[in-house]
Amino acid sequence: MNDTLQGWLQGEIQGLKDAHLYKKPRILESPAGGRVTMDGKSVINLSSNNYLGLANHPKVKQAALDAVEKWGVGAGAVRWIGGTMAIHDELEERIAKFKRVESVLVFTSGFTANSGCIPAVVTKDDVIISDALNHASIIDGVRLSAAAYRKSDGWVYDHKNMDMLEDCLKRASGFAKRMIITDGVFSMDGDIAPLPEIVALAEKYDAFVMVDDAHASGVLGKNGAGTASHFDLYGRVDIQLGTLSKALGVVGGYIAGSGSLKEWLINRGRPYLFSTAHPPMVAAALIAALDVMENDPEPMERLWSNTRKWKSMLHDAGFDTMGSETPITPILFGEEKAAQDAEKMLWEEGVYALAIVFPTVGKGSARIRTMPNATHTDEDLANALAAFVRVRDRLSAGV
Ligand SMILES: Cc1ncc(COP(=O)(O)O)c(C=O)c1O
Repeated sequence: MNDTLQGWLQGEIQGLKDAHLYKKPRILESPAGGRVTMDGKSVINLSSNNYLGLANHPKVKQAALDAVEKWGVGAGAVRWIGGTMAIHDELEERIAKFKRVESVLVFTSGFTANSGCIPAVVTKDDVIISDALNHASIIDGVRLSAAAYRKSDGWVYDHKNMDMLEDCLKRASGFAKRMIITDGVFSMDGDIAPLPEIVALAEKYDAFVMVDDAHASGVLGKNGAGTASHFDLYGRVDIQLGTLSKALGVVGGYIAGSGSLKEWLINRGRPYLFSTAHPPMVAAALIAALDVMENDPEPMERLWSNTRKWKSMLHDAGFDTMGSETPITPILFGEEKAAQDAEKMLWEEGVYALAIVFPTVGKGSARIRTMPNATHTDEDLANALAAFVRVRDRLSAGV
């Protein structure tokens, strides 16, 4: 091992530790449910994106097992080279129907769907206009593009600020194409993008819209079809990204839109072109997950009833959930140290929920991010709330 590299790595790692930014994952020793065994301890899990409990649904698991028998465990190649199996195409057709769009192309993750699609649909003659709180995978996709996009050049609008977006669009008339990109549900704040206003502005200034529905898939809209469905904007959002890794319970991401968009991405979406296809069991499990979402309203009803319960329990106990509107429920602690201490104390109390601090969120708005899901019981939520109250008392007493 090269000494210069090793020295540099160790110095950087120490820097992260000193800045309290160092991450070390805890080990999950049970399926990803509402109550899990983690690092040898039974805890209430408020940090999972398995919103509907589909990651452990019997029908979804059985579909994966059957697919292993039928197709084996690997696709064997990049999709266009020979890795596209009939089941991969079937999944895309199912998602396209579900989303009510012409076509869908699946990527191996939501992250690669963003980093594959964004640079492929713009050129150096174009501009990308972004919400300031967009997800890291959007930011990376934008950075990979040849378009104008920089905040310093005025192409990032303050979170959900439609006056600023309009100002960007007015200044962008000289570009060949204008792209507006936003999260549908913002991953750290749990609020929803004002998509009707964004689409109206896009139509007024001849721009196109891409929405990242990672946290809206399975959560918002008809049977969980996303923000375009939630706002009844069918046919008016040009590019929708969905993830298959969160509410759908498996792994993957997709781009939904026109037939030409799919054709173009098959030819120019680099993570599609140069990375092996999903194992066929992934596609089979996802088809089964879609079956559940389309035919059984109960998981989504339970997700929302737990979400409403959790937010109202927190409000009644005097916690600030920062205006969140979806299952993602941040609980404001303010100072970085308070949120980090709260995370440790919650763990001692048997609750797993992570502190989110600067630079992921602004200074002084450190929070514990919680996500109730369909698998939490009333008892889980009551116990979690009691733990939050005890932690707040301990923090204010300084013990
Ligand atoms: C808004 C947003 N977009 C994209 C992704 C990436 O999705 P995936 O986990 O499927 O790669 C995430 C995941 O955290 C996300 O929160």
